[in-house]
Amino acid sequence: MAKLLILYDSQTGNTERMAEAVAEGARSVQGVEVELKYYARPEELAQADAIIFGSPTYYHDITLPIKQVLEETARANVRLEGKIGAAFGSYGWSGEAPEQILEILRNRFRMKTIEPHINVLYEPKPDQLEECRKLGKTVAQNIAGE
Ligand SMILES: Cc1cc2nc3c(=O)[nH]c(=O)nc-3n(C[C@H](O)[C@H](O)[C@H](O)COP(=O)(O)O)c2cc1C
Repeated sequence: MAKLLILYDSQTGNTERMAEAVAEGARSVQGVEVELKYYARPEELAQADAIIFGSPTYYHDITLPIKQVLEETARANVRLEGKIGAAFGSYGWSGEAPEQILEILRNRFRMKTIEPHINVLYEPKPDQLEECRKLGKTVAQNIAGE
């Protein structure tokens, strides 16, 4: 069965609500195993067909737990080339994290990214949670049947 990994960090719960909506959308697609986690080892990323990253923006940056997963995966020389990647997150004023994640997925790991990323100002509203569900569904549909 195709595997979709959703990895996220959230310090005050906003990105977490988005992550749950992404997972809900993905789980509406048959034939895809969806895992929602804070952390995964490089081998788990290698086993996934698609990976969606969620990070809020803190200090104009991706947060440390998500950076750590990306760093560990790069250092382990895990090949993610050709896998599907996407990104989302909550922010307060500048919101760099999701775009930075996509850049890393494209340039460092040669993943195929689903664009645009989703950036939500503070708490996600119902229409923004719906966008998150759609992102999860789109990514899951891309790998269903693999
Ligand atoms: C110490 C601190 C630093 C922050 N730095 C940024 C920042 O550089 N840019 C930005 O857009 N938002 C920044 N924020 C706002 C957070 O991204 C925002 O509160 C977001 O909703 C947090 O998401 P979370 O609930 O998933 O942790 C900062 C918030 C705090 C408390």
